[in-house]
Amino acid sequence: MRRIKEYQVPLRQRPPKTGLGKPAVHDSAVKHVTGRARYVDDMIMPPGVLHLASGASTCAHGKIKTLDLAAVKASDGVVAVFTRADVPGDIDVGPVYAGDPLFAGDTVEFVGQQLFTVAAHSYEQAQRAVQKAVVEYQPLPAVLTVSTALAQQAFVLPTHTMQSGALGADDYRRAIEAAPQRLCNDVYMKGQEHFYLEGQVCLVCPTEDGGVHVHTSSQHPTEVQKLVAQVLGLPIHRVQAEVRRMGGGFGGKESQAGALACTAAVVCYHTGRAVTFRLPRREDMERTGKRHDFLSRVEVGFSERGEIRGIDICLAGKCGYSPDLSEGIVDRAMFHADNAYYLGPARVVGHRCKTHTVSNTAFRGFGAPQGMVAIEATLDDIARRLGEDPLTIRKRNLYRPGFNTTHYGQKIEQHLLPDIVGQLENSSDYWRRRAAVTEFNRHNPFLKKGLALTPVKFGVSFTATHLNQAGALVHIYTDGSLLVNHAGTEMGQGLYTKVAQVVAAEFGVGVESVQVTATRTDKVANTSPTAASSGTDLNGMAARDAARQIKQGLIEFASTHFAVPADAVRFADNRVIAGTQAMAFAAFVRLAYLNRVALWSSGFYTTPKIHYDRQSAKGRPFFYFANGAAAAEVIVDTFTGEYRVERVDILHDVGRSINPAIDIGQIEGGFVQGMGWLTTEELMWDAQGRVIANSPANYKIPTAADVPPVFNVALYESANAEATIFNSKAVGEPPLMLAISVWSALRDACASVADYRFSPPLDPPATPERVLDALDAARAHVGGEAAATADREVTK
Ligand code: MTE
Ligand code: MOS
Repeated sequence: MRRIKEYQVPLRQRPPKTGLGKPAVHDSAVKHVTGRARYVDDMIMPPGVLHLASGASTCAHGKIKTLDLAAVKASDGVVAVFTRADVPGDIDVGPVYAGDPLFAGDTVEFVGQQLFTVAAHSYEQAQRAVQKAVVEYQPLPAVLTVSTALAQQAFVLPTHTMQSGALGADDYRRAIEAAPQRLCNDVYMKGQEHFYLEGQVCLVCPTEDGGVHVHTSSQHPTEVQKLVAQVLGLPIHRVQAEVRRMGGGFGGKESQAGALACTAAVVCYHTGRAVTFRLPRREDMERTGKRHDFLSRVEVGFSERGEIRGIDICLAGKCGYSPDLSEGIVDRAMFHADNAYYLGPARVVGHRCKTHTVSNTAFRGFGAPQGMVAIEATLDDIARRLGEDPLTIRKRNLYRPGFNTTHYGQKIEQHLLPDIVGQLENSSDYWRRRAAVTEFNRHNPFLKKGLALTPVKFGVSFTATHLNQAGALVHIYTDGSLLVNHAGTEMGQGLYTKVAQVVAAEFGVGVESVQVTATRTDKVANTSPTAASSGTDLNGMAARDAARQIKQGLIEFASTHFAVPADAVRFADNRVIAGTQAMAFAAFVRLAYLNRVALWSSGFYTTPKIHYDRQSAKGRPFFYFANGAAAAEVIVDTFTGEYRVERVDILHDVGRSINPAIDIGQIEGGFVQGMGWLTTEELMWDAQGRVIANSPANYKIPTAADVPPVFNVALYESANAEATIFNSKAVGEPPLMLAISVWSALRDACASVADYRFSPPLDPPATPERVLDALDAARAHVGGEAAATADREVTK
């Protein structure tokens, strides 16, 4: 008790941390931890609400022979059952390209595809009824792997190529062949389940105009609105979508919330009742898309100093049965196949493989992590070949003046990474620890340590240029309180808080004066998804634009009222200062109202300078790059392959931070999520195309206990050279890829067994089993097969 009290007093005495650059508390932090934050499923349900459960295909590819729903209809508590025939409008809910029927037709294309939906009085009744369907399939051949899809040329979208120089030219090939050294590698990286704490959910209510109001847990309310309107055959204005918050999205709610809302809307349309649809965790894991598996194949030519001279990179993403967002995701993998390095003459080919599995979707990084793993694996391999430290090789290849054009033609204008890597090298004490690790490994036959320092360079902007726009509404009420509404959604990343800070700063008031309200399509229209880490960049600017328009009117009024020139009017410390006079902000606002000055405005923003021509695969798709570097140290038990991450040091570039507390939270969270992808989270599939990792019991996400015991995170403070909001930089996704350092450190530990002259294959996720395989491969390399077998017998 006493300790809590003592803690509270100094807290209250601290000045409010509300300005730009201050660690203002997340607007929902207290609500999150006390359970008062309201998610869709916490809402007070309207009377007579119906609950849905859907029947899904258990066959990866086949014709439906029988679909007998009689027993489902007769089941206790069932109100009605709906199928494809009940969709009044468009059946397709594909977000960019068609290909996602809301209910399957005659053919099913993945395990988990929706066949029908049951509306019942309770969630349990709906769940029970769904089990009673009788479905028979005529199986068809199913493509379940990337390699089969590649062999059959089964793609959901055409293959795309990016190339330095002209498309189709063979500069890259000549460069590879002319290089003194050459190597090839391939890496198969598995996908990742989003595991948002709040699963997919919606509540759809009928409106008096024959439309619907949709509460959805979606990163893209406008898309939900548009798809629901299409499915119901209504004009878009009849549908409203509203999102107060998500309990995590991580990309999994960028497109995948649409089908849920459309299903519920169809039921609402026919019954006139409110309808809620929530997927149980197991169904969420089986039926919604994940991060794409990728197969990367690299052929690289390099100098004796390990400088890349030419490279050919092939990236094949496992898209599942439909395009979903795979065009952009594989493009982003291709855009990041250089990560931070100058590739010289390069060709990057991206395939979008069609498999009879759930359609994969956005996941933090949006393809970039997979592109980066491919090149980071290659740099490790080059280092092993030459017997150099991988950090030395990485540094030699960093983009730098004169070596600054990417394979898609964008010039890197700011070279922060040599400095970031250099600073981290010092602060993490890399070289002393390298010597210590080598020494440790020399004296320890069974435990091996690994160390790696890897950079990240992440392009910020949607690569679909038109999405780089946002709108906002700012209102000032007559008591001086402000309200902001903008195009972005809150999923825990702190967007609402940052935008509130921006508006508060414009008017010189505390952040507590600004209320950010639920994102709604009837307030700000035609919004882009909150994705590509661009939430604050876009919505912060749109809100500032709205605020500045209001301010313009207020300044004019103040200038007349106080008889001072316009440039003598300032907003600061909750006051309006006009030359030598000052008035409390609230009193001034009231006065402005009485004098009929507009106290609200909309705002709009589009990102400048960006363009990309997909035909020639050239342009400037990114407004700027966010950078960072991480050093990770691991210790591996060579008997079991088990390991621990002992220490991680991060130096990350967020430009001028709007909110360092939130930014550091994003860096820590993103890093740990990336570590999960690369280490313990393994999506297991059976031979029939069913994902058998379908619960936390058989899919291992990182927990608080997996956070490295030494975890030093620092911000590399340097203002964004581009005119972004407060010269800050996007932070949501880039830190995820800092976790590649952990994977690289694990390979380093395994390579130590072969005196660092062999680069052991270690496909992510590097589970203990796979680490053991990598160790075996390294041992086999040293001792030859016979010796390795003997060794294994000893260790058993
Ligand atoms: N942080 C939290 N807490 N929860 C999330 O769901 N999603 C990530 C990232 N950080 C996410 C998160 C993803 S995938 C993106 S694209 C960005 O936040 C989106 O928000 P922003 O553009 O406002 O950064
Ligand atoms: Mo994030 S993957 O762009 O939603």
